[in-house]
Amino acid sequence: EDAEKGGYPHYMLKEIMEQPRVLFETYTGLASSRELENAAKLLSNAEKIFVTGAGTSYHAGLVFAYYMARIAKRPVIPFISSEYLAYRDMDHSNSVLVAISQSGETIDTLQAVRSFKSSGGRVIAVSNVIGSTIPREADVTVYTRAGPEIGVAATKTFLTQVLALTGMALTLAQYNGSMTQNEYRKAMDTLKNAGHAASAGIDRSIRAVELLASSLRSKGNIYVLGRGLGVALAYEAALKIKEVSYIHAEAYPAGESKHGPIALVEDGFPVIFVGVPPREELHEKLQSNVMEMKARGASTIVVGVSGYDDLKGVDFYIDVGNYDEILAPYAVVPPFQLLAYKLAVMLNRDPDKPRNLAKTVTVE
Ligand code: G6P
Repeated sequence: EDAEKGGYPHYMLKEIMEQPRVLFETYTGLASSRELENAAKLLSNAEKIFVTGAGTSYHAGLVFAYYMARIAKRPVIPFISSEYLAYRDMDHSNSVLVAISQSGETIDTLQAVRSFKSSGGRVIAVSNVIGSTIPREADVTVYTRAGPEIGVAATKTFLTQVLALTGMALTLAQYNGSMTQNEYRKAMDTLKNAGHAASAGIDRSIRAVELLASSLRSKGNIYVLGRGLGVALAYEAALKIKEVSYIHAEAYPAGESKHGPIALVEDGFPVIFVGVPPREELHEKLQSNVMEMKARGASTIVVGVSGYDDLKGVDFYIDVGNYDEILAPYAVVPPFQLLAYKLAVMLNRDPDKPRNLAKTVTVE
């Protein structure tokens, strides 16, 4: 087992560190196949588009919905797999469901797929396991090339899902004219650098995360707040922290935090903000959210792309580098994965096998 961990003490850390490579492999694998084109063709003919998944895969679905709106100008309806009932009794003959599951076996996601197909819908699977059940039942599959993930908490599969889904949104944008050929090629060239962004995110945060983890290890609660793309990333960050450290972490859209969550904030309550592009639109709003929290005594932390360093009232800042909207997730997410990992280790939890959790949930 030690050999399989490649010299790392845990699979989770090994898999976080593998991200630069597997992102590149996912990119090149997709670039040399027709998977994205086949998926985009289905999407371009769809009247309605839904996206579903469980856990981390659902968060990748939220990133997809965001990019689809911004880049391909197509609204997407996201739902958590176990909640497919709401859309069950509808005619889906002109709809497409994007079903995200790294294992391809999660029962709730599979049931959503079956229900959708039985009402006439078409399904695009996004999976990491060739020949697993969900891809077998889907009309088209887009594969991530993350390699086997052993750590129960998903890390490398998340960012490779985000890459595959972003590729899908870009390909559709080119098909439906939301992007010119030229813009599309440039964006795909940018996406090719996802692995570099991940490696910068790791390198630029690894020491700071150690400090941050020592200051958070004794806390009972953590908020993670973001705006725009940062909301989906905040959900994933909070889930990671919760899963492996057992510290209660809750994500919220920053603008919504004054409608409830702020009631809990008192001296020393940690609030982490996710800073993503477009900075011009989000900076000022995030600034006022930071001040609101600071005024209640919160200990404020920002993990973000460059350009948020001038925010006032921030106690701790991790700058992952200068990345645009397409590359930001790859640089911003690894610091949170590392933070969750560090917290687990400091608190003597096993990050690879968190209590009560299973890698793949195949029973309802
Ligand atoms: C379990 C795992 C999570 C994972 C979720 C969905 O809860 O512990 O890490 O995100 O299942 O798994 P899937 O294989 O469908 O992506």
